[in-house]
Amino acid sequence: MTDNRKYEAQKREYEDPHEDVAPVPWILLLIIAGLFSWGAFYIFNTHFRYAATVGDHRVPADFAVPETEGGDIDGHQLYVAQCVACHQATGAGIPGVFPPLVGSEWVLRKPEVLVQILLHGISGEITVKGNKYNGVMPEFRDKFNDAELAAVATYLRTELGDNSVDPVSVDLVKAEREKTADKTDHWNGDADLAPMEE
Ligand code: HEC
Repeated sequence: MTDNRKYEAQKREYEDPHEDVAPVPWILLLIIAGLFSWGAFYIFNTHFRYAATVGDHRVPADFAVPETEGGDIDGHQLYVAQCVACHQATGAGIPGVFPPLVGSEWVLRKPEVLVQILLHGISGEITVKGNKYNGVMPEFRDKFNDAELAAVATYLRTELGDNSVDPVSVDLVKAEREKTADKTDHWNGDADLAPMEE
């Protein structure tokens, strides 16, 4: 095959395929532009002439627990939610691990000390009903407001097991919280708490 004939054969071949530039159809651009300007027009021309009369009109403030009324809060419910995992439903605790609340001197003596325990928690050795415990009791100062703390403390003192001493008022909790507002760590068991009972 001569060079010339090779060239002729090449000339008969198809071109390599390639992609053309395919412009967006103008009709589509027109529709997009139309929708866009209709949207803008709609937003600027919408006036809410009527106050909405259906729907849930409650605001967060409606759900807030009133700080000064402890009476409506269910202390038992709070105990079940926050305390039973450790102190058990009966309040008997778990021997050697979690101290009992039923018959506990810390629950039944000064309400101020009980509130301080709940506010700031305990680490370090503490003696409850003659037995020593050395665990960690979490603090509840950020979890409970004054009314909730009063409700739990009242539940512990008046309803749990056969505990039956006077209830704890919201004002007492408030005063105790203010007294130790700067405290950021746990009470150190007997060492901190026993002197407070005197
Ligand atoms: C994570 C487990 C845990 C949770 C939850 C817990 N406690 Fe405690 N609590 C302890 C431990 C452990 C001690 C003993 C602390 C120590 O040994 O230093 C204790 C001690 C106490 C004491 C003083 C000792 C006694 O037995 O009287 C009181 C009162 C008390 N807790 C009440 C509560 C209440 C009320 C709640 C719920 C609001 C609660 N605790 C939640 C573990 C817990």
